[in-house]
Order: sequence, then structure tokens, then C-alpha cells
Amino acid sequence: MHYDDRVRDKVRTLYAADTQSVAHRMDHIERVLKNIRKIAAHFPDADPELLTLAALLHDVTSPFNRKEEHVELSMETARNILKEIGYPPERMERVIAIIAEHSTEHLVVGNLLSVEARILFDADKIDGLGPNGIARAFALFGQRGYAPPSAITWYRKKIETTLRNMKTDPGRKMAMERLPYGEDFLHRFEAENAGLAERAERDHSSGTT
Ligand SMILES: [Fe+2]
Ligand SMILES: [Fe+2]
Repeated sequence: MHYDDRVRDKVRTLYAADTQSVAHRMDHIERVLKNIRKIAAHFPDADPELLTLAALLHDVTSPFNRKEEHVELSMETARNILKEIGYPPERMERVIAIIAEHSTEHLVVGNLLSVEARILFDADKIDGLGPNGIARAFALFGQRGYAPPSAITWYRKKIETTLRNMKTDPGRKMAMERLPYGEDFLHRFEAENAGLAERAERDHSSGTT
């Protein structure tokens, strides 16, 4: 069995755990892998095995209420899994380094260390845009106990951060293609909720329901 099949076997149950963010389950990983294949086609020097392993492991421990810690937590789990399957230590360190740079929680200004890190970063951020990005934002806020409109300010900020930080040209192109749909959705959503969020807030703080 190849290393990626063995890792896939091990992570499947972890991504399905009750504590795991619903926005960071196996479906997210499969879409990130799909985005990686498209972007990596432009980078023949990128190592496909390192990319696949990093993608499979990058969010492996993402508790829904501890998002800021998910990079460190996932790196630790990744290290344990790669050791368990006997992955060569020097390649393991490269996988861990790619995971370390994947998130806007720890934004690296400028270029990331490796071409694989740049590809995973973009492939991951693209899944935050378009219909899946929208669905994931609402799902995560729901899991944390918030109503849909509460996600909007956070989600708009996330889109801005994504667009400012894309690391590859093909990744940026894919992100831009997804943008109009998301913008249209947000405009309509905000229009239908205009004024209501403040009112809900006021009613809530004054004790009315
Ligand atoms: Fe992540
Ligand atoms: Fe991710």
C-alpha cells in the first residue's frame, strides 16, 4: 500500500470526529486535492506525494471551537501518523513544513518556503470561495451555535484576506473565477437581512424574543 493510501485510511475517522469542524471534514480535503491537481499541473517541479500527504493531513485536528490552534494540533497529529506508517523522517519534515504554512491563522508575508506550500495554501483558500465556501462558513457558525447572519462579517474578512494573499498565478485565477457568484450571494443575503441583525441584537439585549 502506498503512503497516501495508508494516511487516507488513518485520517478518515479523525475527520469524522464529533469535535471536528464540519467545515474541515473529508469533503473539504477531497476538494482541496482536486484544486491541487489543477494548480500543480503548472508546477512540474512540485512533489506530488508531499502535496497529497500534506493535503490529507493539513486540517486533521481542527476542533470547531479552537480554530486558531488547528495548525499546531494538525501538525502534531500529522507527525504521529507519518511516524506510525514509517514515512522517511526527512520527507516527514517537509510535509510538516508545508502544513505549517497553510493557514491565514499564521500568515506568512511574501513567498512561502516551498512550491508545495504555495500550492496547498492556494488550493485550500479556493475552497473558502464560491458555493462550498459559503456553505462551509454557515455550517461552521451553526456548529458553534450562531444564526446564519452572524457569519457574514467574518466571511467577508476571510475573502479579503484570501484575495490579498494568493501565492500562485493559477490559484489566483481560480479564486477570481469563483468571486462573482459569492459576491452576488452576499449582496442578496445582506439585502434580505438589512436592518434585521441590529434589531435582533437589540431585542436580545433588552430581553425580548
Ligand atoms: Fe486549515
Ligand atoms: Fe483546509
